[in-house]
Amino acid sequence: MKQKRMVVKCAEKTVEPVGLIIFGASGDLTSRKLIPSIFSLYKKENMNRNFFLMGCARTPLSDEKFREKVRSSIEKTNTKNVKELKSFSERCYYTDGNYDDNNFYNTLKQKIQDLMKKFSIKDIILYLATPPVVYPVVVEKLGENRFCKDGQGSYRIVVEKPYGYDLDSAKQLDKKFRKYFQEEQIYRIDHYLGKETVQNILMFRFANGIFEPLWNRQYIDHVQVTISESLGLGHRAGYFNRSGIIRDMFQNHMMQMLSLAAMEPPISFEADHVRDEKVKLLNSIRPYPIHEIGKWMVRSQYSKGTIDEQTVPGYLEEEDIPKTSETETFLATKLFIDNWRWQGVPFYMRTGKRLPKKVSEIIIVFKRIPYSMFKPGTGDDINPNILVIKVQPDEGIILTVQAKSPGAKFCMDEISLKFDYKEHFGIDFPDAYERLLLDVMLGDQTLFWRSDGVFASWSLITPVLQAWEKNEKQNCPCSLSFYKAGEWGSKESIDLIQRDKREWLVL
Ligand code: BG6
Repeated sequence: MKQKRMVVKCAEKTVEPVGLIIFGASGDLTSRKLIPSIFSLYKKENMNRNFFLMGCARTPLSDEKFREKVRSSIEKTNTKNVKELKSFSERCYYTDGNYDDNNFYNTLKQKIQDLMKKFSIKDIILYLATPPVVYPVVVEKLGENRFCKDGQGSYRIVVEKPYGYDLDSAKQLDKKFRKYFQEEQIYRIDHYLGKETVQNILMFRFANGIFEPLWNRQYIDHVQVTISESLGLGHRAGYFNRSGIIRDMFQNHMMQMLSLAAMEPPISFEADHVRDEKVKLLNSIRPYPIHEIGKWMVRSQYSKGTIDEQTVPGYLEEEDIPKTSETETFLATKLFIDNWRWQGVPFYMRTGKRLPKKVSEIIIVFKRIPYSMFKPGTGDDINPNILVIKVQPDEGIILTVQAKSPGAKFCMDEISLKFDYKEHFGIDFPDAYERLLLDVMLGDQTLFWRSDGVFASWSLITPVLQAWEKNEKQNCPCSLSFYKAGEWGSKESIDLIQRDKREWLVL
């Protein structure tokens, strides 16, 4: 039978006109990510060109001055002299004020209503790009001033991470949101979900028939998830020192990568069907045995070291970091998922700053073959097959297999079957924010955290945070260890996996 080969299949949706209100418009996130991404959507006509953008912040600025800033942040992303810049920036406006001042919200609301009338726009997106400490007050004021619903048009609210500081604070924050907004109106961002390769995990797993039968305890020995960065803190010392890597990366991005790699197939690609399965997975993670937490989770901090032949300072020498800080910049953990698919399969996860290079990847290590018929030549020691989902950089998928190397002798070599995203599709990826902003405009919540997912993730780590806090001053198994900048974490993190006779891999 002749089979018709695949053509590109896309899900097409219409994007309605929207008004975007950005709180925190003078911040780094707005200029580096949000404005360039919205502009890119506008330029490519992925979004509806009938829109307006209202920047809000404390600094007084005229509309014209704000437009200049908008143009300059777009130009910084190398899109110089584009003809759409003028028409785009003309649709940008600005309102300044204090986030706890009712007058600010009254003025803002009036301006928004005028713009909605002027451009015949019905849908409003409220984007909280402020420091998280002001989320509660902004949400309260938006609610009191009826920005959540007023009989005309719809309101959606987008919130950046961190969503809470632990389980209790996440629940309190959520209560505040839910007092005024329905779950369907709330878009909790995790920018990892906007990355092409992260989205591809679901397509790879569930649009191919050959992987799912192997994706379980019978064929998989263990799974590794790594998100490493060579960078340090940048200008975020204050925020990072309070959060540590566990809140900054593990509670959110790492948990999303894990859930996509390990979840059951959803019944459809509908937002709630996908999110139901993710939450189920997060709830199936075995709680950590807190009394011996050091065996399961290693926390470490970098000291002075070398990256790319440059000497870099240790964490305690970074600007604005207290000399006695015990904040972890690296975390390695082993966990189990208690369900039929994964019983007994360890998941090793690690993330950190100032590691040798930037890598985000999921590695599936399959079981070794049960018996080698090539014994005289190769011994018993044939490497297991490894499947690598490379999220960044060098986005792609690699499968290692054993093959005969050419020649008269019977020799075995490990080779890689590779799919390279950029080489195959020949395009640069859109920024994760582009995809996420478009989804908010479309009203599609698939790539956003739902509150029960956030709570499930905090439920797993809050007892760990409490144990760390309680034992900080005692010599407990959870005490901080150290690694030199430029090394792959502390000795303790290597011991964590070596105790199980396995090794950390980077492919
Ligand atoms: C952010 C963290 O969420 O993700 C940062 O707050 C981190 O500390 C960043 O550097 C990493 O994102 P990416 O897309 O560069 O891997």
